Amino acid sequence: MTRSELVTELAATLGASHEARFIVQEVLGSSPPISTSPVEAADVQVARSLAARRGAGEPLQYLLGHWAFRTVDLLVDPRVLIPRPETEQVVEVALQEVRLLNVANPTVVDAGTGSGAIALAMATELTRQYPTGQVWATDASADALEVATANLDRVRVQHNSMVLPVTFVQGSWLHPLPSQLKGSIDVIVSNPPYVDASEWAGLPPDVRCEPRSALVAAPGSDGTPGLGDIEAVLTQAWTWLSRPGAVVIELAPHQADHAIAMARDIGYGEVRVEPDLSDRPRAFVGQVA
Ligand SMILES: C[S@@+](CC[C@H](N)C(=O)[O-])C[C@H]1O[C@@H](n2cnc3c(N)ncnc32)[C@H](O)[C@@H]1O
Repeated sequence: MTRSELVTELAATLGASHEARFIVQEVLGSSPPISTSPVEAADVQVARSLAARRGAGEPLQYLLGHWAFRTVDLLVDPRVLIPRPETEQVVEVALQEVRLLNVANPTVVDAGTGSGAIALAMATELTRQYPTGQVWATDASADALEVATANLDRVRVQHNSMVLPVTFVQGSWLHPLPSQLKGSIDVIVSNPPYVDASEWAGLPPDVRCEPRSALVAAPGSDGTPGLGDIEAVLTQAWTWLSRPGAVVIELAPHQADHAIAMARDIGYGEVRVEPDLSDRPRAFVGQVA
């Protein structure tokens, strides 16, 4: 069997040719991708078994074991959320906020880091302009922090050590950060859980392979479904941010107006929600002067 015949067979099994190509590339490597080259029988078996697991509902990204996020390629497994394209856009907004502040050595915090996606993308993308900056990242999950720590080593290799220092700490939102950072964080960015518990059963089966604790949040104090963790980050960020400073939080479109009202009540000056690539409200920004 040739490489292209294997892709065709798996595409028919999966009903998705791009997924078949990802699987074949993972098993055979990408170079040289000669479509007529014969494939070893053992490799055919491995590719077929990955396709069978995908067909049974496992997320493609967990099967491959890694996934690209902006400038970094991250290890992913069922201990962490699979980084999403919407979050890549949230990072773009957070980078803009860092640049707007115009400080020489910014301190950035990623609250609820999971695989380390936001922290590690920002640490690589800020390093040229701000070589003396620093990144901190928190998560309540020790399992997630194991993956994030492995990803820091991986990203250092991918980027020839052109990565700002990143420190991971375990605990709830901003609480585990050292107290000397209080009042001196330039930008806090977070993609907290924001799905209401009532939505969990209706999510696609592959999404339900991801950690429930990474997706589901309690209602906000105003009763808005899934807003509880966003509210916690907004409230805590108020005391940890430097003046000026900014918090950037990913949310679901239906939560945007509620988050804006909540932020105004807390005291944030400028508040807005930037759209994602599908033009839906996605990245909440709250600035403090
Ligand atoms: C939606 S995932 C985001 C993961 C990653 N930042 C990303 O964008 O791919 C939310 C993350 O928040 C973490 N988390 C949930 N509750 C938390 C809490 N109280 N404090 C800190 N992290 C929490 C979860 O373990 C999970 O890793």
